[in-house]
Amino acid sequence: MERERGGYRLAMSADTPPDLHEITVEVNSTTRRASFDPGTTLLDALREEFSLTGAKPVCEVGTCGACTVLVDDRAVYSCLTLAAECDGRRVDTVEGLADGQELSALQRSFAECDALQCGYCTPGQLMSLEGLRRSDREPDREAIEHAVQGNLCRCGAYRHILDAAEAALSAGASA
Ligand code: FES
Ligand code: FES
Repeated sequence: MERERGGYRLAMSADTPPDLHEITVEVNSTTRRASFDPGTTLLDALREEFSLTGAKPVCEVGTCGACTVLVDDRAVYSCLTLAAECDGRRVDTVEGLADGQELSALQRSFAECDALQCGYCTPGQLMSLEGLRRSDREPDREAIEHAVQGNLCRCGAYRHILDAAEAALSAGASA
């Protein structure tokens, strides 16, 4: 028995292995190819196939934002995105923000503004803000708050996160 879901056929019988989907995806500017079953999330693909563990599995149901990455410059929850959906697209993760040993302006600002405690939410916060940076060259505080509204911080570092983003991204920021 098969069922259509999100444009992909899912094999419903336990005896029938699902068809594998081969995808080609540009991950942090490197072309990668891999095969996944139709239900594999982008989060699992990044962590288990591509060994990129910056995006964190926390709720895995789209409520915390710890798994946030960019797909074609747009912030998405990778736990709710299928790997197969990313065929032919660009995916950026927190591992791609720095240029070698040189941190991005956003990353530097997080460090300078003390915008993290445990750091578990930080990759997702950074990627939501990176998505904002790519779409809005001079975001104001309201736009920054909107960009990270889907990213929970259990340590309560919100004010410092917003301050760090404003220092790095808003009009007049040096970076
Ligand atoms: S792990 Fe994806 S939103 Fe929480
Ligand atoms: S710094 Fe700990 S969850 Fe945000």
